[in-house]
Amino acid sequence: MRPGVNPTFIMEIIDGNQIAAAIAAELKAEVAALAGRKPCIALVRVGDDPASVSYVKKKEKTAEEIGVTSRIILPPVSITQDALFKLLDELNADSAVDGILVQSPLPKHIDEVAVFRRVAPEKDVDGFNTLNLGKVAQEDETGFVACTPAGIMELLIRSGVDLKGKHVVVLGRSLIVGKPVALLALQKKAGANATVTVCHSATANLPAITRQADVLIAAIGRPEFVTAEMVKPGAIVIDVGINRVPDASKKSGYRLTGDVNFAAVSPLCAKITPVPGGVGPMTVAMLMKNTVKAFRLAHAR
Ligand code: GUN
Repeated sequence: MRPGVNPTFIMEIIDGNQIAAAIAAELKAEVAALAGRKPCIALVRVGDDPASVSYVKKKEKTAEEIGVTSRIILPPVSITQDALFKLLDELNADSAVDGILVQSPLPKHIDEVAVFRRVAPEKDVDGFNTLNLGKVAQEDETGFVACTPAGIMELLIRSGVDLKGKHVVVLGRSLIVGKPVALLALQKKAGANATVTVCHSATANLPAITRQADVLIAAIGRPEFVTAEMVKPGAIVIDVGINRVPDASKKSGYRLTGDVNFAAVSPLCAKITPVPGGVGPMTVAMLMKNTVKAFRLAHAR
């Protein structure tokens, strides 16, 4: 944790890389102690979307570090929905595969939610299947929680933040982050018990609501959308955005930035996550945690 200077409190930058590395070390020890076949995740990436290429590579690398086997499947962007269903049916039936992840976004001709539903619930390490999303609502811990929301909760807990009684404002209502993280913060369990408000593109008087947040979770996919005027001094800000903004001074031609204007907002905060190095690494760590859980559940049956 890097402390910063603030006139009224010490601002802390939450180090997602460090927390994710601690989780990876715990999982590595757990996997090393398993006898026989190691947990295996199938990573399905349709087409060559540059962000997806980079995310799947990171997932493959982290799996290898932990001792989880990965099977990379790269269908062409032209794959039909039926052919993708057939591929998923085969992976669902394959007893050597514990977890299945289909990287989002998918090409426009494919119904993404239908694909998420096709993954067998017991292999749905992404947590996007209807049954697993329902289990989050029911507070049933036998299911899989979507990796980014689970990572945000873990990041908060390991940073010493207890949400009990706090006002959490979630910016964004996506299936991947906004909705599930709101449900998790709302749960009646240690570390949660928050009062939750979910804001979206049709929310009126947005800054007036975000300024009430003790914890602001920004997940709207708009670069540097959250400005200093939208944040209460002393708030905790979790930036889920990973936006690629053109930048001619970079070799890659772009820079990564979050949904929060970090330079303007960070001096106000008690704690804030950076981009990159905040929530991103936690998503991958929780994917591995879900894969090990899927393996254990499969072997307990
Ligand atoms: N795209 C952005 N985040 C995610 C994620 O958590 N899982 C999948 N499958 N795709 C994503």
